[in-house]
Order: sequence, then structure tokens, then C-alpha cells
Amino acid sequence: MPSVPEFLLRKLYVPASLKSLEDGFSFQLNNTLMTVSIAGLGIKADEKGIPVSCLSLQFAGEEERSAKEIKRTTPVILTLNRPLTVRVKTALNHPNKLQIEAQTIEMGILSFSIDLHPKKENWFFTCAKRTTGTIRSTLQIQKVRHDPHHPIYHFTPPANWMNDPNGLVNWQGKTHLFYQYNPQAPVWGTPCWGHAVSTDLVHWQRLPIALRPHPGQADQDGCWSGSAAITEDGPLFFYTGVFPETVCLAKPDTEFEKLELQEGNPVISAPPEGLTVEGFRDPNIWKEGDHWYLTLGTGIKGTGGAVLLYESTDMHKWNYLHPLLQGDSRRTDPFPTGTMWECPQLFELDGEYFLFISGCVIPGLQYTFYFQGKMQSHHLAPYTLKHLDYGCKVFYAPLSFLDEKGRRVMFGWLVEERDEAANRKAGWAGVMSLPRLLTLSPQKELQVDPLPEIETLRQKLVNSYEGKITSIPLEIGAGKQILNAEIISEMISTAGGKAIFLLAETFDAGEKTIIAYDFNRSLLSVDTRDTNCDSSYHGELKEAPLILRAGEMLELRIFVDGSVLEVYANHRMVISSRFYPERANRLRLFVRSDGAIIQVKSLKLWSMGHF
Ligand code: FRU
Repeated sequence: MPSVPEFLLRKLYVPASLKSLEDGFSFQLNNTLMTVSIAGLGIKADEKGIPVSCLSLQFAGEEERSAKEIKRTTPVILTLNRPLTVRVKTALNHPNKLQIEAQTIEMGILSFSIDLHPKKENWFFTCAKRTTGTIRSTLQIQKVRHDPHHPIYHFTPPANWMNDPNGLVNWQGKTHLFYQYNPQAPVWGTPCWGHAVSTDLVHWQRLPIALRPHPGQADQDGCWSGSAAITEDGPLFFYTGVFPETVCLAKPDTEFEKLELQEGNPVISAPPEGLTVEGFRDPNIWKEGDHWYLTLGTGIKGTGGAVLLYESTDMHKWNYLHPLLQGDSRRTDPFPTGTMWECPQLFELDGEYFLFISGCVIPGLQYTFYFQGKMQSHHLAPYTLKHLDYGCKVFYAPLSFLDEKGRRVMFGWLVEERDEAANRKAGWAGVMSLPRLLTLSPQKELQVDPLPEIETLRQKLVNSYEGKITSIPLEIGAGKQILNAEIISEMISTAGGKAIFLLAETFDAGEKTIIAYDFNRSLLSVDTRDTNCDSSYHGELKEAPLILRAGEMLELRIFVDGSVLEVYANHRMVISSRFYPERANRLRLFVRSDGAIIQVKSLKLWSMGHF
């Protein structure tokens, strides 16, 4: 759908048409661009959303229509050169600024703002400013595309900020992936839902923004995370409207390009009475028999993170049942679970129940973990608590779904590990993880693997090696840069020792990133402390316990993609990391041991192509 630049949309406002009324104000719009059908209208006056029930529209000589009655089936047709008076009932009679958002059938959402008392600006200066804005964003996208730290086979928007995956759903042969997106800047801001589709979960087509805040509605300050459900009427989306945090319901338009807010929102408007909570968000929905269930993440003051469980038969009226699980913020064993839980998701894998949580542990520290257990009368009785990814704070807010083949597939947000100033300089922040396949092992443990379709991203087998490694560094793929690559290896050691993968320009000096497995200590690690010689970058040593069973080989899959590192080990362990070497496009791959002789059954280096 083409988008109309804001400076053209501003021409719709009839200059000096603002009139103060006893109960508000009115102004006029005159369309000189092209006929459009308005299917919804939202207005903010001086940044305050006006409820849609306070808006009415009138063409000269016709009856006044309340904006509440305007829908896709009964739109207002804005033909050319026919002034339309918009009346706004509010306590404010002299607004300085209007923000107008018209949902149109032909052009999607048209939003623009009008400064009602503008300072006189030089025409040349105004044009120059607009042109600079357009050039700046084109240059930003170009710069991001050529940034060696920017991934090519992990999904991202073209520039600016993204965080959580949202609303994953299969519909008519395609998987729709939505995500928290700030199209304005490479920092978190009022979130919209970005949108992409795929037929294989690894190659993505970026689509226009699907969901934006609706002025005057429960989501006017942001469309936060949520999930999707397939119903008899097609997919429905439950997400968090802010502020305050509520649950909103949206439905895709017929082209599945936009998600439209439904009547009767929000469907859950406040936390259950009697609970003092911190946070009330991230609805996740599923069906059991004739009933729908929905969880929300929260923190109960003085107690800890919690997941609230709701039930419904019609998806509009929701009854609060009880906490599905209540955490304890004093807990430290095996690790703290924190005071507030975000993005909870409960699902079953062959009779075992898993509850994924993104936990706010202490201010500034968040990580993802999961409980495994049994369900008893809609309460989770957990018997295991584990990290989902030993990159901890790097892999956050995961969302899983059942794909078309019935497999449970998960995506997560790979968080930047550099500071905001560096993100601003780069012009982008946030990456979607590769799709991860979740299965249950014969020991009834959670297994995490890269989805097999990822192999279709492989381009060229750069090198393959079999034999032994010793303390003498062996270069794999001599002279080839390791910017967007997969390294897959199987190794065994009968005498302990350490297998070391080095991403560096030379093996003995300068910037280096180390991925290692210590056969003696059963420890997998990713070390980015010397990744960048610039002292403003602080890397980290990330370690994960990985005990190999008798006779079991070390099986590693290492995905390098610009500044992204995902290390999968033996189907049950992942360390996600971010790394920012100054000379990213000069990295080569060296493999060695600490002196022990380690047998390499197979080691392959693949170059990878674009998503
Ligand atoms: C998790 C989160 C969610 C919230 C969203 C806002 O990263 O904080 O709880 O809905 O991000 O962008």
C-alpha cells in the first residue's frame, strides 16, 4: 500500500478553520488529493487522546454523524473539494496541536499532525528540512545494510529499533511474524507491531507496520506484546494496550496487512480486584475444549513475579481464575526469578508442561527461564527451573507456536550488548533469533535445536576438516572472512582438555572472540571480553554446564552473523551472545586445543545467505 507523506496530508486541514465552541472546538478538512473512504478516526488534541464518542463529522447540508458509527462497512467517503467539519467535544477550546489518524480503506492508516499556531517559517527552509528527513532515512537504511555488525540471515527491520516477537501465527500457507518496533529511532519508544511473512520460517518478506497505537483508545500510548489465536472467524490478536496496561483485541483486515482494533476494547481493563500488582501485560492465549485461556505476566507486590490465568468462552468476556504460578522474589536457588514476570507462555510437549518466563530480576537485569511440571486443576506444579539460554540477558521475550507441520518453534529477541549511544550511532538495534525447534528428549528434558530449514540459508561449503586438533592453531577456510557463517562440528576427547574456536584476525594478537568447551570441567563458554580493543566495549564471559553422557560427542553449531553469535550444543544447550569487533569483516576462524589431542570427527564451515 503506498504511503502518503505527512506534508501532503497536512494540506487536508483548512487553514484558520479552527473554531472554539462552548463544549470543545471544531475544524475543517478539505480533500484535494484523492477520494478516500474513512473507516475509523482518532484524534489527539495537545497530546491528549479524545474518546471516539466525542467526535462527530458533518458535510455541509448533511446530518452530523458520530465517529463511533464509522466502520469499514459504513465509511465516510471523503470526495474531492467537499469540506468536512469535525466537531470535538472536550474541555479544551483552544488546542495548539492536533494529531489525526484516519483509517482508510484505500490507503491504510493516514496519520498527520497540525500545528494550529505555527511560527512563520521560511518556505525554502521547510522544504529543505523535509527533503533532509527523507534523505537521512534513506541513507540510514543504506548505512545499516553495509554495517558489518548488522546480520543478514537473522531477521531485522531495515533500521531502527525492534524487540519482542509477537502474534506468531500460520494463516493460509504463510507464517506471520510480528514484533515490537519503533520505526522512529534505534531506541525503545512507543511500540508498533512490525510485520513479516514467510513460507519456511527462515526467508522473510518485510511488510508495512501492521498495528499502531489508536489515538483515544486503550492502546493510544503503545501496542505492547501479545499473541494470536486461530478462531472460526480467522486469526485474532490479543495484545497489551498502554497506559494503563490492558488487554486489547485486534483482527486482521481482509488482506492481512493491518490489525484492526475491535469494538468493546479493552477486553480486560484492569488487574483483578484485591491484587496489588506491578505490570499487567503480554497476553498469551490458547484453547482447551470449548474454553479459551489467557495468561498475563505480572508481579505481586511483596511476593514476586506471577502469571495470572483467565478463562473465556467467547474471547470477549474474561473471568480471572487464579495465579497459574506464583514466584518468590526471595528465591535464589538455582537462581533468582525476580519481582515481575513478562511474556509468560505455557505449553505442552508430549505430556510435560513448560512455562517460559522473561523475568525482571533486579532493575537492569532481565533473563529468560522456564519451569517444567505437571498441570493440576489449572495450576502448574513445577519440578524444574532452568535457564532457557545461557546468554541470559541476550535472549529475551521468546514466543513459540505450532508451525504448519505441528512442530513447536520458538523465536526470541537477541538484545544488543552495547550501549545506547553505540546503537544510535549504528542506526539500528535488536535482532530476531533463528527459529528454534523445541522437542522432548527420551529423558523428558527440553531439547532446543536450530530449525532444520536453516540449512537452506547455507550458500557454500567453505571448508571441511577431519582429524585431530592440538595446541597449534588450525585455520579453517584459509583467508576466508567469517562474517555470515555457520560452523558445525563433532568432536571427542578421551583425555579431557579444551577445544577452542577463535574468531580473530590473526590467532596470536588483536581482537578475539573465543568459543570453547572444557572437557574436564564440562563447561561450554563464549568469551567476548577481548572482542573489541576499544575500551568503551565491555564483553563478557558466558558459561554453561554441559555434561556429556558416556560416549557422547561434543556437537556444536555456531552461527555467526555480523554481531550475532548463537552457539547450540548437543541439542540441549544454547548460548546467545552479541559481539562487536572493530574489524568485523576481517575475522577468520582458528581451531586449537589447550594441548590435549582432540579428535574432530567432522568440522564444516558454511557461508550463509540473506533471509
Ligand atoms: C518485554 C517487554 C514486554 C512488553 C514489551 C514492550 O521485552 O517489556 O513485557 O510488552 O516489551 O515493548
